[in-house]
Amino acid sequence: MNILAELRQRFDSALSSMVEETSPLLDMIRPATDSKFGDYQANCAMPLKKQLGKNPREIAQDIIDKLDVADMCETPEIAGPGFINLKLKDDWITQQLVASVGDDRLGVPKVATPKTYVVDYSSPNVAKPMHVGHIRSTVIGDTLSRVLRFLGHNVISDNHLGDWGTQFGMIIYGYKHFREDAAYQQNPVAELSRIYRFVRKIMDVLETQAALPKRKLALADQADEIENRKSKEPTGDKAADKKAAKDLRKLEGQHNNAKGAIAELENKLADLQADSDLMALVKEHAKINTAVLQETVKLHEGDEENLKLWHEFLPKCRDEIQRVYDRLDITFDVEYGESFYHDRLANVVSDFEKQGLAKQSEGATCVFLDGFKAPMIIRKQDGAFLYATTDLATIQYRMETWKPDAMLYVVDHRQGEHFDKLFAAAKLWGCADVEMKHISFGTVMGPDGKPYKTRSGDTVGLEGLLDEAVSRALTIVSDNDDKKETPDFSDAKRNTISELVGIGGLKYGDLSQNRETDYIFSYEKMLALNGNTATYMQYAYARVQSIFRRGSIDIEQLRENASGLQLNHPAERTLAVAILRFAEALDDVTFDYRPNLLTNYLFEELAKSYSTFFANCPVLKAEDDVTKESRALLCDLTARVIQQGLQLLGISTVEKM
Ligand code: ARG
Repeated sequence: MNILAELRQRFDSALSSMVEETSPLLDMIRPATDSKFGDYQANCAMPLKKQLGKNPREIAQDIIDKLDVADMCETPEIAGPGFINLKLKDDWITQQLVASVGDDRLGVPKVATPKTYVVDYSSPNVAKPMHVGHIRSTVIGDTLSRVLRFLGHNVISDNHLGDWGTQFGMIIYGYKHFREDAAYQQNPVAELSRIYRFVRKIMDVLETQAALPKRKLALADQADEIENRKSKEPTGDKAADKKAAKDLRKLEGQHNNAKGAIAELENKLADLQADSDLMALVKEHAKINTAVLQETVKLHEGDEENLKLWHEFLPKCRDEIQRVYDRLDITFDVEYGESFYHDRLANVVSDFEKQGLAKQSEGATCVFLDGFKAPMIIRKQDGAFLYATTDLATIQYRMETWKPDAMLYVVDHRQGEHFDKLFAAAKLWGCADVEMKHISFGTVMGPDGKPYKTRSGDTVGLEGLLDEAVSRALTIVSDNDDKKETPDFSDAKRNTISELVGIGGLKYGDLSQNRETDYIFSYEKMLALNGNTATYMQYAYARVQSIFRRGSIDIEQLRENASGLQLNHPAERTLAVAILRFAEALDDVTFDYRPNLLTNYLFEELAKSYSTFFANCPVLKAEDDVTKESRALLCDLTARVIQQGLQLLGISTVEKM
């Protein structure tokens, strides 16, 4: 049972005879902030003061008189200006726990009205190696899909692969000019990714060479402006002078940043320029930018050679990505890449035109949207379609195929404006009733607080990251095992456990962050044995199993006699309520699509109350058998919620660690 939802329903019945609109009032029923006041707290009497023309304490009493919670709560109490405090009855808690023991879903109900969700996540551009930036979309999207599905919704997870964009133009161009045949024969994907990086490098040199003079000019202008402002006499108007000084400091700050960035670019360029072979190629391929675009256009137009190459490259690139997904235990219902929508693009544009939603502007087809400075371009002057056009076609396809209630896009925050425009355009186009949401997330930072890069300045590859996490996990697992009188594990077993611990740590480390903020990547933090980490939760789970082994407790049999459960110690009661609140935590996750509300629950509520319980309530050494069995059942439920919670985060548990 979802206790909060149940209480809200009961309040709804009571309130609906008093007011028209109950739902904002129901939101004011929350878990109590301090257990002194009980388990839940309803703050809905105070805002009704004006409307009902009564003292809130009286209103609270009216609500209580109408409220039917006698089966689940002690008599509600009114506190302060009119708070209603609710304390669950111990025997009701016990009943619910007993029900959870016998329930595979641990008491988590399925939603009454399931919705259909399309969750668009991971979606890498396939011709490039996956990097650290892909971890976030992949694990956040996977968790949201798992949780929504667990709650009974219909979920279609879609990996919207970038398999049709400029990056293919880049490898086609690179393949034609820079491939090493032997290397390609031996390991095509490695060679393709070398080719990709090499083309990128040449393009970088050219782009930097072109950009530097402009940026230096802008820097000089900025310096002049600073001098100019400095030379001005104070006006005597205190406020104005203060503001001028503040603006000047701000400008100086920006100037310093710009200077730093330019110096960095110059250094990078100098390094590249030191490589004379590279520079010879840069010279030879000075028009690479346009050439790459041409290769892309040719591919899109069905050029035989390019299409053949694309068909040759694509499965190889996808295999490479699949390896990462297999390790991460990530699956999708569909993987319709961008190429899948190619045939629809022209129709999308003409449909927008026909409906009067798009106009020609400077040769391009544009959708002008209220509230945006620039229009959304859906066809370029040269006839090429864009990322946005494909996304519109994708929406059309999804609506036709699944009629979803919601489409979630788990994509990094830099694409915020793209999605704002896309959703606005889709609404104009007729998708008014579907919830479209950009599940935006921040950047993974290195220890220096800047986007995580390798020493050579490349973004960090995802496979290398996984390897490192697993190898560090191996050290932790082995050290722990070596400490035992007789180590438990063979080398092979240590390796399997480390894979789960390392990858679990990485996922949890990401999922436990507020998705909208940047975070600093740290192996130490994410594999820490103590604190809000997967390792800690995995150990907590394994420790419960070890209690059962040591006490030779037959847990299956215990579960069948769950009616013996009792709550005598306050720590037992607190743990019991925490266990029952699992359903609420999952609801919270789906409210604004935030996986960290699940990790928070697991650590802050469940694991912490388990620790207090464990410190105060001996299990194997309990005073009598009834208490021992009851406590063992609490341990078992805790472990099961941890296991189920981690599973929803895509993380496995092991019986022994
Ligand atoms: N492939 C894109 C990128 O790497 C992300 C795609 C996100 N999904 C979407 N429907 N636009 O930036």
